[in-house]
Amino acid sequence: MDWVEKYRPQHLQDVVGNSGAVRQMYEWARDWSRQKKPLLLYGKPGTGKTSSAYALANDMHWEVVELNASDQRTKAALEKVAGSGSTTASLSGASRKLILLDEADNLHGQADRGGAKAIVEIIAASMQPIILIANDYYALTKELKAVTEPVQFRALQARSIVPRLRHICAAEGVACDPAALDAIAERADGDMRAAVNMLYAAAVGREHLAAGDVHTSAKDERSTIFELVGSVYKGKRDADLLRMAVEVEDTPDTVEQWLEGSLSHMPDFASRARGYACLARADEYIGRTYRRQYYTLWRYASAVMLLGLADAAGGHGVHDRIMPPSRWQKMGASKKQKTIRAGLSRKLSEMTHIPEDALREDFFTAISILVEQDPARYVREFELDADELNLFIHDKARAAKIVKEVAKEEKAKEKKAAAKEKPATKAKKSQDDAPPADAGESRRDPPPGQATLF
Ligand SMILES: Nc1ncnc2c1ncn2[C@@H]1O[C@H](COP(=O)(O)OP(=O)(O)OP(=O)(O)O)[C@@H](O)[C@H]1O
Ligand SMILES: [Mg+2]
Repeated sequence: MDWVEKYRPQHLQDVVGNSGAVRQMYEWARDWSRQKKPLLLYGKPGTGKTSSAYALANDMHWEVVELNASDQRTKAALEKVAGSGSTTASLSGASRKLILLDEADNLHGQADRGGAKAIVEIIAASMQPIILIANDYYALTKELKAVTEPVQFRALQARSIVPRLRHICAAEGVACDPAALDAIAERADGDMRAAVNMLYAAAVGREHLAAGDVHTSAKDERSTIFELVGSVYKGKRDADLLRMAVEVEDTPDTVEQWLEGSLSHMPDFASRARGYACLARADEYIGRTYRRQYYTLWRYASAVMLLGLADAAGGHGVHDRIMPPSRWQKMGASKKQKTIRAGLSRKLSEMTHIPEDALREDFFTAISILVEQDPARYVREFELDADELNLFIHDKARAAKIVKEVAKEEKAKEKKAAAKEKPATKAKKSQDDAPPADAGESRRDPPPGQATLF
């Protein structure tokens, strides 16, 4: 189990920070009667809104009925649950049912325009306590704001995040460097979920966590990919998404796998299907990038998958944890390495016309030395992606960086070539701005199988 779920606060007293909000919730529940307005928890992601609602129910021995606010069927379900005054009907013996409407800010602009109105009506008639949860208070309708009591969850301070991280490390038996925890807490920017995710990424499977580990495995790499995936679902502006795609350490093929792993966050089946279609299209571009060493295609791959997915997601946000691609977990680290190694060995064998086993036995060390001396050259020569390069140089961050740099140089070259070509072939529209059709393959033609090894 990942740590975000494992260390979800079970009781209100475990909730870190926001003590005013927590107190307000407790008093509301203690004094609850039908005259009380429902609570509206709002604020930044990962600050404990959903957890606090469940913790409160747990402390009060209330049963939770969670309904999806943007779901069409919710109205009927709500009526059924909220309309019932019976406090003893529940099999679990819980005294009341707490109705939880998460994502209450996602009602507007839906096909179901009456959603917010229906909820307001039900609130008025409810015999059971209700808690609504939203990220964006301003996205709520006036009517909904008028009938609820707001409870704000603020971003958590780094100094309250650190003790929680220390607690988790202790429970997991990881000795941690205080500087490592400080770095994570700072980087989390008030979001405890992000902090726990980063800690997990950096510390899982280790006995000791040093500040340096955070630097490479969480801060620079994972956390930014978390941000990128989160932003796709938040419906950030296109330009921002494309900028972030350039900023992350990961190459587009890795980003694609993260996005694929994230499709479960799509609001419905139709959106998910659209998401898959975008990824399939992006995958074609990524494949061609490596086949043809034509890195301009990377940009299209990024645009197709990020903007396409953001559009399909409709700005619903991610209301669960963002996980590394499950395919990686399934493969396990060593199996993943093996798969990459096998793919690389096959590729090199085809390119150099040396049988695979001979390559592995007799040439691999020599090739490694060569690659280490001039990695960029061999990235071009062997069409290596970051994972493959990493097999030679054993430095993931550096491998990703080199592959990115090569891509940048190649792109610059392509641009220059296109500019030169232009005066002569005026009629031909700039090829740099449109994804070349398959027929244009001849444009870049070092045919495979002619790599020069030494
Ligand atoms: N205040 C907190 N104290 C302790 N743990 C927290 C706190 N806030 C978040 N967490 C950790 O982050 C996870 C996610 O928190 P939660 O689901 O409550 O966030 P949220 O505010 O509902 O976020 P969102 O707006 O994205 O739904 C929890 O499982 C827990 O591990
Ligand atoms: Mg939540």
